[in-house]
Amino acid sequence: MKIQSQKLRDTWLKYYEEKGHLNIGAVSLIGDGSTGVMFNVAGMQPLMPYLLGAKHPSGKTRLCNVQGCVRTIDIESVGDQTHLTFFEMMGNWSLGDYFKKEKTKWTYDLLTKVFGLDGNKICATVFAGDNSAPRDEETAGLLKDLGIKPENIYYLPKEDNWWELEGTVGTPCGPDNEWFYPLHDKPCGPHCDINCKCGRYVEVGNDVYMQYKKLENGYEPLSNKNVDTGFGFERVLMFLNGLTDVYKTDLFEEVVAYAENKAGKKYGTDEETTKAIRIVADHMRTTVMLIGDPNGIVPSNTGSGYVLRRLMRRAIRFARSINLSAEDLCEIAKIYIEKVYNHAYPLLVEKEDYILAELTKEINKFEAMLVQGTKEFEKVVSGIARKNEFMSKSNPNYKPETQISGKSAFRLYETYGFPVEMTIEMAAEKGLSVDMDGYKQAFEEHQELARTARAGENKGGLAGQGELETQYHTATHLTLAGLRKLFGTQTVQHGSNITSERMRFDFNLDRKMTDEEIKWLEDFVNDAIARKIDVVRKEMPYSKALESGAYGIYNGKPDEVVSVYVIGDVDNQICGGPHVKNTSELGHYKIVKEQSSSSGIRRIKAVLTH
Ligand code: ALA
Repeated sequence: MKIQSQKLRDTWLKYYEEKGHLNIGAVSLIGDGSTGVMFNVAGMQPLMPYLLGAKHPSGKTRLCNVQGCVRTIDIESVGDQTHLTFFEMMGNWSLGDYFKKEKTKWTYDLLTKVFGLDGNKICATVFAGDNSAPRDEETAGLLKDLGIKPENIYYLPKEDNWWELEGTVGTPCGPDNEWFYPLHDKPCGPHCDINCKCGRYVEVGNDVYMQYKKLENGYEPLSNKNVDTGFGFERVLMFLNGLTDVYKTDLFEEVVAYAENKAGKKYGTDEETTKAIRIVADHMRTTVMLIGDPNGIVPSNTGSGYVLRRLMRRAIRFARSINLSAEDLCEIAKIYIEKVYNHAYPLLVEKEDYILAELTKEINKFEAMLVQGTKEFEKVVSGIARKNEFMSKSNPNYKPETQISGKSAFRLYETYGFPVEMTIEMAAEKGLSVDMDGYKQAFEEHQELARTARAGENKGGLAGQGELETQYHTATHLTLAGLRKLFGTQTVQHGSNITSERMRFDFNLDRKMTDEEIKWLEDFVNDAIARKIDVVRKEMPYSKALESGAYGIYNGKPDEVVSVYVIGDVDNQICGGPHVKNTSELGHYKIVKEQSSSSGIRRIKAVLTH
């Protein structure tokens, strides 16, 4: 089956809508701070509270969507045929509704009846079992009943067939069932199966049976048996069109053609050009998505803004290597906005001028420094070469220097705006590494000076610190956490006032809250109270806090230590405190008023009773 991108999105949604799923649409790409990651990395991430048992605001237990995700963890792998920093995940969920029997059948039918794949060739993997959870014989049995050949079913250990968000506790997880299909019928040898490195078998998607909650050590069964399905959109699109390179799908076609034309070289003819075109195509797409997001960000030197800056600067560097200009990068952004994603992401079109302006600003800022900075970098490299040559002449036992000093790397960052990761990559191209300890030290010394200059600022600002006020302060955090769940992470605090009798909280929303929403928010806070969650204060550098998913208003430097209050899986905010030790101290939470405060701003008054 040959299929265009928009058709594939529609096909997915229609298939699950017909099976009673509500299309909940996509949320912002920027992490909401509750999950410990900077960007949304999976379709299930915004649904975590519901997978853990909270009622979904829609009241539905069958959901589906196509959700954008950003994973920058292996940004350096971008340049090959399949790695991407932005991708879409086609997902569907059962919140304690259907389970393995329905899910295996629906995925099987989708693959065979809708996508037209041959059931005899479908391979599947299930969890082999270990001391944390049993072998998934149930799924294997269902797959066999559907007609999947027993020899095509593989039992694999946790590292392959268990899905959980890395580095988190209190999050839902479980065994998964992955689906594979061969790209062609020519095995590379006698054992060419799903484990073979030749890449003949492609994983098209996976069904996770989320029935556990991850604890500090081990797992606890959830009362809800959930399903969390994720199919990688670009990968399925590539696969269904008989391709082995995502950049050949209709999502990238026009951008690649544009870049080929300007570079004067064909994609696929030489490795360097091909890699550069892929990097430009991928990074520019992610840039457009992150700036044009409902909760959009702009390049900066901290947190998610730093990741964006790194992506943009990497794109600019590779664009130059194939003679693409600043205008060309803007043209590429325009192709994505106007032609590729105009339908699925209409907000990009609305924000087009803004996106292009931010892009141009960053290009101008960096291009001016890139030429000088590259010269400086070359000087550092040739300095090392000269030193090695000289020293080895005079000393036969001399061990050549293979590292760029931390000081030099920091100077490239501070003076020329080279993200250190970029210096590392450029150094690697010359067979050199970067002394990261030295870099960090140089960075810290610099911060120390800045800190001294700013001493005395940024103190936590709660007027009275009586016990009741402290309780209201924690209730304020829970309120904001709930509002962000209800209305999205663009919801921020616009004012807060606490007395020992009530809390008042202002936030952005362009309409009145419905009675249901008010009730949901009260339930959300009271549930957090009933769960007796410890409120834990942590100290860490601001950059680490952001990495850990914390949110909050703060204007300091990345390495400045901030205090973060973590309320279990409910909230994670940068804040000076004070807060209660455990949510159970709050009694009962009730919203007594919801009113307009000013244009686009609502005001909530809430009380705690004991
Ligand atoms: N959460 C699963 C994934 O991201 C479906 O692959």
